[in-house]
Amino acid sequence: MIPALAVYGVEKRIGATRILRGVDLAIEPGERHALIGPNGAGKSTLFNLIAGGARPNAGRIDLFGAEITRLAPAAITRRGLARSFQTTSVFARLSVFDNLRCAAMLAERDRTRWWQRFSGSNTVDERAEQVLAAVGLDARRHIQAGTLSYAEQRALDLGLALAGGAHTLLLDEPTAGMNRAEAARAIELIRATTAGRTLLMVEHDMDAVFALADRVSVLVQGRIIATGTPAAIRADAAVRAAYLGDSVRA
Ligand SMILES: Nc1ncnc2c1ncn2[C@@H]1O[C@H](COP(=O)(O)OP(=O)(O)OP(=O)(O)O)[C@@H](O)[C@H]1O
Ligand SMILES: [Mg+2]
Repeated sequence: MIPALAVYGVEKRIGATRILRGVDLAIEPGERHALIGPNGAGKSTLFNLIAGGARPNAGRIDLFGAEITRLAPAAITRRGLARSFQTTSVFARLSVFDNLRCAAMLAERDRTRWWQRFSGSNTVDERAEQVLAAVGLDARRHIQAGTLSYAEQRALDLGLALAGGAHTLLLDEPTAGMNRAEAARAIELIRATTAGRTLLMVEHDMDAVFALADRVSVLVQGRIIATGTPAAIRADAAVRAAYLGDSVRA
């Protein structure tokens, strides 16, 4: 099967520092994959390379079998990959609903035949309505997006990716800055709204990772040291030593 997202031998240097040292990753269509690893391991750097924000020094990145390594971010977005940032990217002065309409409209404008199969044939308003309900912001539709709570803004951010018709989502620490209840709700929202899509997520909250991910990859000092089911990763001695904080006993 052709992976939804494939990373082959990706290396990234910044100055003399090797940030990524040959990363391989293959994510199946519809898979929810978590990328974990200590601070500074290179997780956000890898996301940035995948989304076209920077270019790797070596290696290749494919989206559904087509190379995207050297494409600009907008071109990668048009091919159906959406990335959420740590900070929200909503239009603060527009209403919640108009934010979603904008995202749906941009996607409509950028339609190609290739991508039509993912975005369906709904009108812009129908799609905005659907997403509004899906992310639980129906009651807030007329509110200026900038006045939403932090957790609501993150939900809207996810909604923008969905309204844009993305089939593959990169979420970098989607529950950062939330309390436990908000984080749990956010994970449920991600689970419900990403069904049938491919998800690659950086997340430090292990409860969230183990609840949501089909598979987990562990990045340590620019290398993937393990990939497997949450249970296998939890039991992996090298992972525990490198990341989960356990000492390895001989
Ligand atoms: N523009 C840059 N210039 C120099 N070094 C950088 C730059 N961007 C990132 N780095 C370094 O690259 C390494 C990887 O950073 P990155 O942000 O990818 O880590 P991360 O795994 O996302 O960490 P965190 O869990 O803290 O978000 C770090 O050592 C960081 O200091
Ligand atoms: Mg990061």
